[in-house]
Amino acid sequence: PQTAETKTSAAPASDTIVIGHVGSMTGNEATFGQSSDNGMKLAVEEQNKKNGIKGKKIVLKTYDDQGKPEEAAVAATRLVTQDKVLTFLGEVSSSRSIAMGPVADSNKIPMISNSSTNPKVTKDGDKTRPFVFRVCFIDPFQGTVMAKFAAENKKWKKVAILRDVGNDYSVGLANFFTETFKKLGGEVVDDVSYKAGDQDFKAQLTKLKSKNAEAFYVPGYYTDVALIARQAKELGIKVPLMGGDGWDSEKLYEISKGALDGSFFSNHYSPEDTSPQVKDFIAKYKATYNAVPDAHAVLGYDAANVAFHAMEQAKELTGPAIRDEVEKTKDFQGVSGKITLNKDHNADKPAVVIGIEKNAPKYAATISP
Ligand code: PHE
Repeated sequence: PQTAETKTSAAPASDTIVIGHVGSMTGNEATFGQSSDNGMKLAVEEQNKKNGIKGKKIVLKTYDDQGKPEEAAVAATRLVTQDKVLTFLGEVSSSRSIAMGPVADSNKIPMISNSSTNPKVTKDGDKTRPFVFRVCFIDPFQGTVMAKFAAENKKWKKVAILRDVGNDYSVGLANFFTETFKKLGGEVVDDVSYKAGDQDFKAQLTKLKSKNAEAFYVPGYYTDVALIARQAKELGIKVPLMGGDGWDSEKLYEISKGALDGSFFSNHYSPEDTSPQVKDFIAKYKATYNAVPDAHAVLGYDAANVAFHAMEQAKELTGPAIRDEVEKTKDFQGVSGKITLNKDHNADKPAVVIGIEKNAPKYAATISP
């Protein structure tokens, strides 16, 4: 993996604490890693201004996994063995977090995923992974959110699905959506596949077009979804698309060029939220990065702060001692809401539904677990 900073690693000085971040800083999902890193850096700066942790300065070490699960596992191992991190943060994508989890467990170093939502991230079969946590909700809930929104708010009866078969997140979300949508009396009229990075989706879209669906559920990542939306429009498909948090990127709007107007997706946060935490964070983020934070920035910031809080509470600065404190996280006030980690190491939090109007995101609803 490439290191985002060009510094070479050395054993950490005794007056510093090194925290790792593994993210997609380049590649098709580059905004995921970059925004997360921006949020984490803000948290580190603030904590260092407050005298760090137990008087030690925090150093954030970021590795780019280029969006590849194998690279994510290698980067996590390097953080632990070479950089001697006490905790590492990431990934955004579930497939990459699933690859990193075993590294946390076998080295007894806590991992906190900022925004991976597939249940398998914190589970090893039926067993909760002892050293793996996340600060976000999971997909059985997220799938339910859009199924309810479709069936109850929109009164849609027929939905077609287009899923990314190589992506644990996309496959999981498509399944969870289907389960709830059927329970609510809806019908999934067709369910077809694509692979991340495909350029031509016309065959699948043409097939779906003939099925009289009232909407398409497309739980993928923003680059593919934006292309799908444009090609759907070219084929004369008028139905709205629905998706999940994987849509959240400013690039979604840039690439889709308005083709997603009238569509909806579930997410972790809305910049229109008027809570003091959100307003304050947006102001700080804008002052530093000259941009409105997306969900990754918010969750990256929250994940880092949950780690810092645990380190402050820990009896000693070792992986197991920090882990025990992360596990106790309760009512921790984050920007994305209050964070309490349940027995499966997941956060139960409300989701927001975002609508797209005039090629811009617009808050539509909040749905609680
Ligand atoms: N939840 C997605 C996953 O698990 C990642 C993601 C989170 C994407 C938030 C965008 C916004 O793969």
